[in-house]
Formats: sequence, structure tokens, C-alpha cells
Amino acid sequence: MHNKVTKAIFPVAGLGTRFLPATKSIPKEIMTLVDRPLIQYAIDEARAAGIKEFIFVTSRGKGALEDYFDNAPQLEAELRKKGKNDLLDLLKSTNMESGAIAYMRQHKPLGLGHAVWCARRLIANDEPFAVILPDDVIASETPCLQQMVEAYEEVGGNMVAAMEVPKDRIKAYGVLDLEEDMGALVKVRGMVEKPEPEAAPSNLAVIGRYILTPGVLQNLSKMKSGSGGEIQLTDAIAEEIAQERGVYGYRFRGQRFDCGSKSGYLQATVAFALARDELRADLMGYLKELISVEKAAQ
Ligand code: UTP
Repeated sequence: MHNKVTKAIFPVAGLGTRFLPATKSIPKEIMTLVDRPLIQYAIDEARAAGIKEFIFVTSRGKGALEDYFDNAPQLEAELRKKGKNDLLDLLKSTNMESGAIAYMRQHKPLGLGHAVWCARRLIANDEPFAVILPDDVIASETPCLQQMVEAYEEVGGNMVAAMEVPKDRIKAYGVLDLEEDMGALVKVRGMVEKPEPEAAPSNLAVIGRYILTPGVLQNLSKMKSGSGGEIQLTDAIAEEIAQERGVYGYRFRGQRFDCGSKSGYLQATVAFALARDELRADLMGYLKELISVEKAAQ
């Protein structure tokens, strides 16, 4: 029996330079897909997977993110007075229980590995924990982290969400070297951060969902900077293999959007809007019109 995963770390201390100038004053994680901030999707996914404690690794300028999780008594009173109960319920569903959220500060953007390490004192010695990158939004029937927790309960160890990526885009990812392919689960022999396409050991890339053991935090404590001068989480997970502790990749069911890039963010916006009954017909009409204008111009 493996210990239950009840804590999740959300590293949100990055600079978000790809969304400048917006990210000059808005944390990237507050940007919305339709009307929900990216961070809300991540929190909902964590809750569905049984997470009870939410650890945010933040940085300067992320105040709006902290405010987002506060209750909004004035707004709630106003909605109650006007009898807008649907909106009131919607608002309340985003409230977090007192004491369920912790904020740690990453003082310098030294990389994802460093951000996770900043939360080390909030994780006990024998406690597995999840890491969720809110930029990676995954549309799926069973939320991705829940799928992973179910698989983790079977095999334990460390687990990363994995996705097949075309060769010409592999350089943007951490890539798995497979020891054994068991279907949804793969046993990992090694991991390479941002390889050239010819050097990539497979087409299976790591994306932003992890279930990790505290050994990874100990590995991070010993690490110097890796690829790109940053402290890479991938390197600390790969170190677990060297120490003969299991690392698995999990091919999740669902569609992942890279909302850290403009193109991925726009695609997600369209996909999530089309999934909403009240928006679908209007947006679809507009898209069809665009396509026919485009075709006529060719
Ligand atoms: P990204 O690589 O997307 O970097 O980080 P970024 O700073 O957010 O965005 P760009 O590339 O400048 O546009 C992936 C995740 O790791 C977190 C980010 O907040 C994001 O959730 N991160 C990254 C940190 O928390 N600290 C860091 O030092 C680096």
C-alpha cells in the first residue's frame, strides 16, 4: 500500500515572458480560458484527484493570484441581495478552505526544479506529492492527475505524465528513455531535457503533471544548474533512476494544451469555448464564416 497523495505543488513563479506585455502586471495563471483562470482548472483537477493541501510557489508580482483565492464578501453580499444565486454558487465554488493553501516564495527564477525545491519544508519525509504546471491544461473525461493517482496506487515510485510528440517539436520537452512499455504505463530508464531530434531517445515527452517522492527533493538539494542554466526538475527525477527507485511515465487520456505559448493558449480558448453550450453555436458560426472567407481568397 502506497501513501496517499494529498499535497500538490503549483510552481507559478516563472516570468511568463512569452505573454509580455500582459504579464508585466497580470500573473500568467490568472489569464482566462473563456471565464475561468488557468489556475482554477489546475485546482479543480487537483481536487478531483483527492488533493487536500495546495502549495503555491510564487514570486514578486503574483499578488493577484493570492487574492483570487480569497473570499469576496462584498461581492457575495451584493449577489445575494440581487438574488443571483447561480453566480453566488459559482463564486463560492472557487473559495478555498482556510489553511488549505500555503504560499512559498521563489526569490529568483532559477528554474522549475528550484521552484519545487522551495516547497521542500512543507513535504514530510515519507510523503508523495503531486506537481501541477497550470500552463498545461488538459481536457479529459477523467482529470489527468486522477488517472495518474489511480496508476500510482498500483505501482508507487515517481510518475510523470507523458505524451507522444512529433520529432520536429521534441526539442521543447524532457524526453523519456524507455526500459519497458506496458501500455498506459512505461518504465523509464533515463530522461533527457530538450534533446536535439536525432538524440531523442523516444517520442514520449514529459508534460506538466508529476507524482513524486521526497527523494526528488533531496536530489534537488544537491543539484547545480542543468540545461539552460536552470535547475531542472527532470534531472532530479532522472537521479531517482540512478538510485534504483522507480520512475514511470503515464500516457494519459485527454488533450493537452500548452497555454504557456500564445498558439496553445488560443487553441485552448477555442476548444473550451466550443465545449460550452451557450457559446458553441455563435463561435462555430463565426469560425465557419472565417474559413469560407479564407477559402474564397485562395
Ligand atoms: P516556463 O518554462 O513556462 O517559464 O515555466 P515561464 O517563466 O512561466 O514562461 P516564459 O517561458 O518566460 O514565457 C514552466 C512552469 O514553471 C514555473 C512557471 O511559473 C511555470 O508554471 N517556473 C519556472 C517557476 O515557478 N520558477 C522558475 O524559475 C521557472
